[in-house]
Amino acid sequence: MPQLREVRRWPTLGARATIALSALLFAAVFALRLSDSNVGDAEGALFIVPIGVLALRFRLRGALIGALVALALVIVWGEVDPDVSLLTTGYVVRAITLITVATLLGTFVEHRRRLEEGIVRYYDASLDLLASGTIHGRFIRVNPAWERTLGYSPQTLYETTFIDLVHPDDRESTIVEAKQLLRRGQAMIGFRNRVRAADGSYCWLEWNASMSGEVIHALARDVTALRAAEDQLANNARTLEAMIVERTRELDDARAETLRQLALAAEYRDDETYQHTERVGHVAARIALGLELPAGQVTLLRQAAPLHDVGKLAIPDRILLKPGKLTVEEYEVMKTHTELGARLLSSGSSPVLQMAALIAATHHERWDGKGYPQGLSGESIPLVGRIVAVADVFDALIHDRPYKKAWPFEDALAEIERSAGTQFDPRVVKAFLKLRDDLQRLRDELGEVEARGFGLSKDGRPQYTLPRRRGDFLEHVDRHAPRTEVIARRSAVGG
Ligand SMILES: [Fe+2]
Repeated sequence: MPQLREVRRWPTLGARATIALSALLFAAVFALRLSDSNVGDAEGALFIVPIGVLALRFRLRGALIGALVALALVIVWGEVDPDVSLLTTGYVVRAITLITVATLLGTFVEHRRRLEEGIVRYYDASLDLLASGTIHGRFIRVNPAWERTLGYSPQTLYETTFIDLVHPDDRESTIVEAKQLLRRGQAMIGFRNRVRAADGSYCWLEWNASMSGEVIHALARDVTALRAAEDQLANNARTLEAMIVERTRELDDARAETLRQLALAAEYRDDETYQHTERVGHVAARIALGLELPAGQVTLLRQAAPLHDVGKLAIPDRILLKPGKLTVEEYEVMKTHTELGARLLSSGSSPVLQMAALIAATHHERWDGKGYPQGLSGESIPLVGRIVAVADVFDALIHDRPYKKAWPFEDALAEIERSAGTQFDPRVVKAFLKLRDDLQRLRDELGEVEARGFGLSKDGRPQYTLPRRRGDFLEHVDRHAPRTEVIARRSAVGG
């Protein structure tokens, strides 16, 4: 059995020792038969022992030679012992018995040896790492694949405890698997770990192991390349996923920006200062902060609130820009901007667009249930819708509209306060009123921005005044480029 090594092996006899032992056994049986001991006709059975010894060493050929020797001794015994008078049939029966027994023994050993040789051939040729070991992790037998794969000679492995070869990070999980194997007995277990090769590198091995008595039988396959491919695949998948997320975010951002531009375009139709949506976003975010909403929600609200009136794009100018009071029919058309906006925004998957759709649908609902479009009341109105409702109405009150003049700041605050519990959520109004100083400052800041040249002339042309310093100008262009583009486009197509 080349390449097959065992630490524990039964001692085997060489050819000469086997012959000597057999001769001794034959002589002993013969001497016993010649003595006066009463063994009767047991020589036939006793001769099986040396025949068996010869069969184990020399297979069928040895067994048959043993049978012939035994038969010769029977004949000799018949000649030398005057008390024995065997007939021819007696010799024939003994010959047939001895040869039959020898043939059976020899054939059995022959088949057994061929089977073992076949197993050993597969064992040696296997690309998988085969091993038998003790429950304490010592190798009993390994095949040559171990040396081919890891570079260890069998003798080195027999002197090594398996766990010492396992990567430190995988030892705990390997011990857990081994304990599971000990508990489950002969059931097969499978796992992967990293095993150190002779050159210090680590190989990923995939194990299948089972127990037989106190011996663990294991088959391991080198899956280092497979593992690298799996890692590469996982990395690619992660990269691809990140790219998809990034592209989706870009698409959503682009969609949000487009819709913001649309909202601005819609707003431009009834707001010369072009700042209403931005102001509503600012104020809504500050109310949300006062209500202690999570920072992520506040940021979303800041981005989503300016889109609340995007549905006005679909409202005809004759209604949207009508200076006087709307008729009932006109008001019904005007009210549809909520649902139209929600429908437009709900096509987006981003959190900003989803929140914007919610706000568009609910920013005209009233706390007392008398709002539109659904007539929701109280806390059945989403909080973001209740917040934007306050911010929207307040901003509309303090600015000119085609149908009304701007209210004084304090009057607008009083109106909001008066509407708490009817039109608005009292809790939201309370948070809003705490912003009184901030609102004043915000109005001044935004008013200053408008005064610095970001309005439109009455005929729809962009109207700029250059900032005093170059830095201010660049900041001005950066912050307002999208709006400038829209305005320019509108001018180009003649409004
Ligand atoms: Fe609205």
